[in-house]
Amino acid sequence: MNHRRTIERPAKAGPAPAKAPGASAVKNLIRGRFKTPRLPEVEAFSASLPFDRRLFRHDIRGSIAHARMLARVGLLKPGEARAIAAGLEAIEHEIAAGRFHFDLADEDIHLAIERRLIEKIGAAGRKLHTARSRNDQVALDLRLYLRDEIGATIALVRGLRAVLLRVARAHVETVMPGYTHLQRAQPVSLAHHLMAYGEMLERDRERLAQALERVAVMPLGAGAMAGSTLPIDRRMVARELGFKRVAANSIDAVSDRDFAVDFLAAAALLMVHLSRMAEELILWTSSEFAFAELPDEFATGSSMMPQKKNPDLLELIRGKSGRIIGDLVAMLTILKGLPLAYNSDLQEDKERVFDALDTLKPALDLLAKLWPRIRFNRAALRAAAGGFALATDLAEYLVARGVPFRLAHEAVGALVRETAARNLTLEELTLADLRRHSAEFGADAIDALTAEKSIAARKLIGGPAPSTVRRRLKELGRG
Ligand code: ARG
Repeated sequence: MNHRRTIERPAKAGPAPAKAPGASAVKNLIRGRFKTPRLPEVEAFSASLPFDRRLFRHDIRGSIAHARMLARVGLLKPGEARAIAAGLEAIEHEIAAGRFHFDLADEDIHLAIERRLIEKIGAAGRKLHTARSRNDQVALDLRLYLRDEIGATIALVRGLRAVLLRVARAHVETVMPGYTHLQRAQPVSLAHHLMAYGEMLERDRERLAQALERVAVMPLGAGAMAGSTLPIDRRMVARELGFKRVAANSIDAVSDRDFAVDFLAAAALLMVHLSRMAEELILWTSSEFAFAELPDEFATGSSMMPQKKNPDLLELIRGKSGRIIGDLVAMLTILKGLPLAYNSDLQEDKERVFDALDTLKPALDLLAKLWPRIRFNRAALRAAAGGFALATDLAEYLVARGVPFRLAHEAVGALVRETAARNLTLEELTLADLRRHSAEFGADAIDALTAEKSIAARKLIGGPAPSTVRRRLKELGRG
């Protein structure tokens, strides 16, 4: 019954512990009602220890708060609570230093730590799990973990946004074509274009902050699903752990993973934004666009073609958005049709969350490092904005002189057709050219016919005029 098998230790875990596997003095904590041990393959398939060990610090934090509360309400002697806290802190060091002996028979990080605690401090350790189940314990651990990690992710989002704003500040006057349907549409500034991502990231920050609110609810005390008859103090645990709210329904407390969905949904959308950003950089750094140059430190060579400078990193950011979308869909699928309350299906939540974080955080960090190193080709950007991107401006010129928009649209359409046939661009036209299509065109129409003036004239809220963009840059810079 006490058979124990070591699980693989991470490479950086340091030297193997002196104690041989199977030497644990403490037998399995939860098999009192069984005659025989589980099949090893059942044990291997069911264990979450290989991945949930990542929660060890949070598990220990939660257990220390629980023990203090048990002492406060008289379920532990003060000395027992102190021994438990000291034992748990020592275990935290063992794990951090790679000296902890992980054993698959422990199933998960909760039982692994509890077993080790009993090994270390004896009788008092056997009281820690009073009025607690792994069901409320794991809900607490994941919430504590996500609270830290969402905080860290928000900091990375702010970092990337700050970098983008800095790049934008240098390009308020850099003219480029804006696109619809990937066809040149109207002139804008590079700053205005980049700030579109600034707006996305601002919404991402908001969504993550909202997810954080829903994560910050304290589930402990729900026990397996119906609480406890013992006089525990849930508010005290919440206070100890810095939660403002206590889960209001014990069944919901152990079966709820909506907070993980909230995080994954925010993460998936954020990653989709990064994917769009990556795609534009891939386009812009291609020879076809030649709007920008990818710094060598971020580019990859080809194994066959010596001339290649490939944007693999950006392609992978684009591609890995599929992973996080997958994590979100997997989490929703795990919850769909799941009866109340806790079911082991929920054990599948953690790898989704870990995978999303492991993908998202480096992507945010790398893009923040990449943006300031990109060199833009102002001449190429300006040249692309010249062509026909001013057609709407000409139509609006006519509207300002009383021509109904549809007629103005048609007249300028004909002008574009003629100009294209003559191999010219709108910026090269004379007043006579314009007047062939509408008598309303005056000399000032030619004057206004540059990308710079077109941009400057679009001062409306949300527009690309330098004055407007500078104002928004200030607002977002404060956030
Ligand atoms: N390893 C479990 C998880 O990750 C912890 C809770 C297990 N509870 C149980 N009754 N099997 O969800």
